[in-house]
Amino acid sequence: AKEAVRVLVTGAAGQIGYALVPMIARGVMLGPDQPVILHMLDIPPAAEALNGVKMELVDAAFPLLKGVVATTDAVEACTGVNIAVMVGGFPRKEGMERKDVMSKNVSIYKSQASALEKHAAANCKVLVVANPANTNALILKEFAPSIPEKNITCLTRLDHNRALGQISERLSVQVSDIKNVIIWGNHSSTQYPDVNHATVKTPAGEKPVRGLVKDDTWLNAEFITTVQQRGAAIIKARKLSSALSAASSACDHIRDWVLGTPEGTWVSMGVYSDGSYNVPAGLVYSFPVTCQNGEWKIVQGLSIDEFSRKKLELTADELSEEKALAYSCLS
Ligand code: NAI
Repeated sequence: AKEAVRVLVTGAAGQIGYALVPMIARGVMLGPDQPVILHMLDIPPAAEALNGVKMELVDAAFPLLKGVVATTDAVEACTGVNIAVMVGGFPRKEGMERKDVMSKNVSIYKSQASALEKHAAANCKVLVVANPANTNALILKEFAPSIPEKNITCLTRLDHNRALGQISERLSVQVSDIKNVIIWGNHSSTQYPDVNHATVKTPAGEKPVRGLVKDDTWLNAEFITTVQQRGAAIIKARKLSSALSAASSACDHIRDWVLGTPEGTWVSMGVYSDGSYNVPAGLVYSFPVTCQNGEWKIVQGLSIDEFSRKKLELTADELSEEKALAYSCLS
């Protein structure tokens, strides 16, 4: 039998946590033959709720779930974890400035970086979900210098999946027949959902999305803003943020990272920029990546037209500003 993998979920008493932990315990993240031990962290005001989640995990009697650690102690939570999904964070409340939210989250990610660096298993893979996701991941990376930068990522797979969903609806094709959309940049409304390299499997072979949609006006405007604004649209409809789709996409992100992307297919991940596509090095930026043997690689050599170039730069500029703001909060 395989040895259990320890998976940390921070903010586990929250909305996304409640959707995510049963998926992990059912094998959605790591596969149906991979036993898991869940580590759940939250803060003391949520301790009772967290214990309730633990009770439900016991009650659900998941065959793959070999243990549950539920704690408000970051060191205990991080000890020995092989995968860390960082969902915990401070939400923006009415009347709060962007800088106040940034300041709260940056200090959380700075201290959790140290706990992970000291106590996680060697080669622990980290996925930051909590907003501002890219910048939280960057802070985590900078304050956990012994964790290799390739092990620290942020979630833009939800945006990637939203783009697939929009194309699927527009063309009335199965989402599983569409591939190679790209989310570039920040997990924010400046992200650039790019379909220029995306294709659809049809009875007549693989066809470019752009050729099938035959409506550049829609692709260059409404499609992009729909994906960019989808999070806000869900909040408006549900009065709560997207939790089901965020949890499912977090599982997709880790599964593809660990088990690999299918031949000829890429996905979007927020990763530490090496300067590819002229994106400034030293930002956590969403790129198209392929994964093999537990490592991601940025897809190289894609053509970037003038329209796209501007959008790649705009979202990079926002990330540079966020980075400066984050550092000003720390000093
Ligand atoms: P939530 O407010 O329901 O849950 C957050 C949980 O984090 C709460 O239980 C809270 O007590 C906990 N928490 C706060 N500080 C903590 C700390 N220092 N350590 C551990 N836990 C802590 O929020 P929800 O809806 O679950 O969203 C979580 C985060 O994910 C938010 O920042 C949200 O903006 C973000 N998000 C990101 C998405 C993405 O695609 N990257 C998509 C949707 C949400």
